[in-house]
Amino acid sequence: MTDTAVQAAPFDLEKIRADFPVLKQMVHGKPLVYLDNAATTQKPWAVIDRVHKFDSEEYGTVRRGAYFLSEGSTRMYDEARKKVAGLLGTPDPNEIIFTSGTTQAINLVAHSFGKAFVKEGDEIIISNIEHHANTVPWQVCCEERGAKLKVIPVNDRGELILEEYEKLLNPRTKIVAVNHVSNALGTVNPIRQIIEMAHKVGARVLIDGAQSTPHMQLDVKALDCDFYTFSGHKMYGPSGIGGLYGRMELLKEMPPYVTGGDMIQQVTIEKTTYNPPPSRFEAGTPPISQVIGLGAAVDYLQGLGLDKIADYEHSLLEYGTRKLSEIPEIRIIGTAREKASILSFVSDVIHPHDVVTLLDQDGIACRGGHHCAQPTMQRYQVPATTRASVSFYNKYEELDALAESLRKAIKLFS
Ligand code: ALA
Repeated sequence: MTDTAVQAAPFDLEKIRADFPVLKQMVHGKPLVYLDNAATTQKPWAVIDRVHKFDSEEYGTVRRGAYFLSEGSTRMYDEARKKVAGLLGTPDPNEIIFTSGTTQAINLVAHSFGKAFVKEGDEIIISNIEHHANTVPWQVCCEERGAKLKVIPVNDRGELILEEYEKLLNPRTKIVAVNHVSNALGTVNPIRQIIEMAHKVGARVLIDGAQSTPHMQLDVKALDCDFYTFSGHKMYGPSGIGGLYGRMELLKEMPPYVTGGDMIQQVTIEKTTYNPPPSRFEAGTPPISQVIGLGAAVDYLQGLGLDKIADYEHSLLEYGTRKLSEIPEIRIIGTAREKASILSFVSDVIHPHDVVTLLDQDGIACRGGHHCAQPTMQRYQVPATTRASVSFYNKYEELDALAESLRKAIKLFS
């Protein structure tokens, strides 16, 4: 066991780990230590088996067929939407739009909300610690609509400076788009306050929830946000599926983003009328099996309990932070008071790309790079960081293994 008293997992950790078949493998002769959960999470049998059963026994197209398989698939597809709505905290499943993930969800809002509500001279606010997926779509929106992009600065710890944010807000602000948890630093942003401040000037708010949805209990209605995005593959579900919560009164006013089959009411050669949301935003045959798998992932997360997950992961993060802080050659980037899951660090001795290659030799999977957040790297004047990101299936011993492997790597390069 580890050298410091720590909070025990609030569930049977070995039983949980046995739910994830990937975790029991050896990598280069060492037990796999999977610490790249911010990039993508592993899947439990509950998801793997559900998708397998669906594909092998129940698969049919949705919303089109009046036969047994199609009706069953449509029912299960609708049930999955209800599960996601329950996870995010909206009583109306029609406020959940399935997309391929957070990137497509933000693009949808940037294009569609942009077209409906953003005009020349308007302003859009993002922060200095956004993923490229919550930066580039807004740059494009501003270019296309003649609007101006403004950026909330961060302090040295990686926290948004709210006094500066306040100064950026004005009646021209149309939308504020910030992440709930930064993928590069792990900062948990004070989104309730951010939303309240934006609403005071009549601006709407999109929260990029890619890094928060798997780690904490959410309630989009209590938060009063206008849009909230999520990615299935970061919440123990399949890749290629994710989505968007959108406030119905806004979705109703927004034009389609992708057009084609399934999203129409009537098509003549002269004119097309569109379905109400969510169908209006789900053109074409959706990723049906992935949606069913996502539903199973939601059941799994709720079965464990998001509050328990948050508590245990917080304890893991604190432990890992302590362990890495004991290594003099390492500097943690992102020391916000509120953090979730993510531990980003640099060393003057060794580049992150070399770090992750050497960690891999010890069976440890971490990500090294700019994490699709180059403006964040620029802010802290580093080209890249090494990032360890924890999940509820990680153990304290795995963070010991990370620290030990890092010490070895640093020694090799010193
Ligand atoms: N957004 C993912 C990450 O942070 C890909 O690694």
